[in-house]
Amino acid sequence: MPKFAKHLFICMNQREPGHPRPCCDPSGQGELQRLFKTKLAERGIKLVRANKSGCLDQCELGPNVVVYPEGVWYGA
Ligand code: FES
Repeated sequence: MPKFAKHLFICMNQREPGHPRPCCDPSGQGELQRLFKTKLAERGIKLVRANKSGCLDQCELGPNVVVYPEGVWYGA
């Protein structure tokens, strides 16, 4: 039995300043993932895991989050 019913993959990719593509976590602080974890815990939601992710290749639409198993994408 899986421990989690859903996984949020939250892009934490960081690129150097001046890179031709944007990135989802320019500060490298992981604030978005930390916020998801905090809010899930505050709501007592234990079956959803907020995972760190590398680049999801939708950089121009970020910050990006994808929810599985549904495969629903969220961006800015
Ligand atoms: S840097 Fe986040 S999708 Fe590419």
